[in-house]
Amino acid sequence: MPNSLHELRAVVCSVFILTVLSLSAAAQQVALTPPMGWNSWNYFAEKVTDADVRAAADAIVASGMKDAGYIYVNIDDTWEGQRDASGLLHTNSKFPDMKALADYVHSKGLKIGIYSSPGPKTCAGFEGSYGHEAQDAQMYAAWGIDYLKYDLCSFIPEIMEKQAPKDPAAQMRLMHAAYDKMGKALKATGRPIVYSLCQYGFDAVWEWAPALGGNLWRSTGDIQANMYSIYANMSLQAGLSNYAGPGHWNDPDMLEVGNGELTLAENRAHFSMWAMLAAPLLAGNDLSKMKPEIRDILTKREVIAIDQDKLGQQAQRLDVEGQVEVWTKQLSAGSLAVAVLNIGDARYSTHPYHLYLSKLGLHGSQKATELWTGKAVQLTEGMPIEIASHDVLLLKIDAPK
Ligand code: GLA
Repeated sequence: MPNSLHELRAVVCSVFILTVLSLSAAAQQVALTPPMGWNSWNYFAEKVTDADVRAAADAIVASGMKDAGYIYVNIDDTWEGQRDASGLLHTNSKFPDMKALADYVHSKGLKIGIYSSPGPKTCAGFEGSYGHEAQDAQMYAAWGIDYLKYDLCSFIPEIMEKQAPKDPAAQMRLMHAAYDKMGKALKATGRPIVYSLCQYGFDAVWEWAPALGGNLWRSTGDIQANMYSIYANMSLQAGLSNYAGPGHWNDPDMLEVGNGELTLAENRAHFSMWAMLAAPLLAGNDLSKMKPEIRDILTKREVIAIDQDKLGQQAQRLDVEGQVEVWTKQLSAGSLAVAVLNIGDARYSTHPYHLYLSKLGLHGSQKATELWTGKAVQLTEGMPIEIASHDVLLLKIDAPK
């Protein structure tokens, strides 16, 4: 027991310092590899309910996705109800008890995410966090929330455009301050909460988001379940690789694997390219009804390992020949992943694509593994490659020369 005021002060002081140190260590430890999980928006959109989220958590476990690394079960927009007289936000009738839902998700060994906006309203017109940031962050922590997606939405017309009309730079400063405010509010809870910025890439978000505590930030508009949208979002990541790394990631938006009319080749190509980009792997399909071939894509270990490689390098686009492009990603232990993507028409033996290893900084022939088939392949300079429309050849070279 401390026996003087002086000693008591010293004890209180060191407890405080240790707490601050351990809180900031905890804050840094989230998202050391790109977050993996599921988000309700791309399939369920505004219809999502408590039951859908529970079913997704069940399916993550039953499908083998949890074992493959999917951990976050994220509720997107439309869970919000009204604020009471004290400003406390209540859920709407689709989510009768958020704490019970969080407990359920945690009981499966998973983590749970939620969604809000720095504006007065969310994108779907529900209650946002404007003016209630600290109160909302404390409530998330009390519920046991592990991940927040914070979506700009009405902050643009209601705050940025009204408070700084015709002054885009001042508008951007308001936006930074709003993301900073929630970043600090989350930190102040003491709970490690992944902080996902969603403002569609405005004002080179990758340059300033990490300093505000952002673990990932959308670098594009909304994805849709077609190859043109997937390709557009993917393309916008070119040149951003320096901004990605452990704890902070570019986010080309959630996966559409298994949604819409995407073919198997398209699903495979989409998943491969997100892995190459060290993108968050947040499945966006109805997991409880997914077909085995979609489950097989989402749980393909060798491809997930590319995404989750601990170096945290994002792929770079090193060659483009019209509709075919080649991206490479440095991996730990000196290995290299190579993706050849055909976004256009099929290239058959009459006019195959030729892979020039020298354009990738490689010298001479290389031993590689095709990751989707597991086959060993010998790569040679200028070798012809037949590649179907919207398909991908994903390779790993263990010892590149
Ligand atoms: C925005 C986001 C989407 C989704 C919706 C919800 O459009 O970019 O990802 O969260 O809002 O309303």
